[in-house]
Amino acid sequence: MAKITVATLKERKQRKTPITMLTSYDYAMARMVDNAGIDMILVGDSLGNVVLGYESTIPVTVDDMIHHAKAVCRGVNQAMVVVDMPFMSYQISVVDALRNAGRIMKESGAQAVKVEGGKEIIEVVRAMVDAGIPVVGHLGLTPQSIHQLGGFKVQGKDMETAQKMIDDAKLLADAGVCALVLECVPEKLAQKITDTIHVPTIGIGAGNVCDGQVLVVNDMLGMYSDFTPKFVKKFADLSKLMQEAIEEYKQEVINREFPAKEHTFTMSDEVLEKLY
Ligand code: KIV
Ligand code: NA
Repeated sequence: MAKITVATLKERKQRKTPITMLTSYDYAMARMVDNAGIDMILVGDSLGNVVLGYESTIPVTVDDMIHHAKAVCRGVNQAMVVVDMPFMSYQISVVDALRNAGRIMKESGAQAVKVEGGKEIIEVVRAMVDAGIPVVGHLGLTPQSIHQLGGFKVQGKDMETAQKMIDDAKLLADAGVCALVLECVPEKLAQKITDTIHVPTIGIGAGNVCDGQVLVVNDMLGMYSDFTPKFVKKFADLSKLMQEAIEEYKQEVINREFPAKEHTFTMSDEVLEKLY
């Protein structure tokens, strides 16, 4: 299959064919996700939570993102790779944002970047699009503002915040984003935004009405159990399998059952006898 591009995304929205997206943070996972034919791979700054063990996405750096995005890109043939710009890498100034986005694109080989927010960052989004960088937007629950939002909760339930989200979505669409992630949003609001803008929406906790869906791969594989939001479906329980396998290994080493003959190298007795 051909490489997924921004043109593919646009076409998917027109044809109403759902866009599939998952996160990845390393080569091995990216290969599996790409082999499965997932359209878009997000190197999310959820990296901070699920891989690096931070309590939020706030400590993640541009260098962290590049390091993991490079590994992901090495494993991908077909999917469009999107890299999250981490906290404070695009809010300070347009120049700073362009420099960081440029570094991420050049050093990792990814096809797009993702930024959180609407009106507040619209100049930055415009400048990146003008520079030829495909940008994915992200509205609703924006984890980089978690301390301002006051926790992980559904966004846009009242008239004021819902209208702001619609306005932000229009601004982002006009600024030229190639897709828009909607996180933790009531389904009816996600529907309204999806119907209003020409840009594909990608939902996570935004119901079954968006143009695509995204999940954190570690969540849907059951590989991360510190916190599981309502919107996650565990398609596997890998943590349990992995824990059991690790314990089995430990027991077999202690019991001298592993390594067995088939894992062991031999040499001839003739050579052995000459050794002193
Ligand atoms: O960082 C991330 O994984 C994300 C997705 C949840 C959309 O931003
Ligand atoms: Na993110």
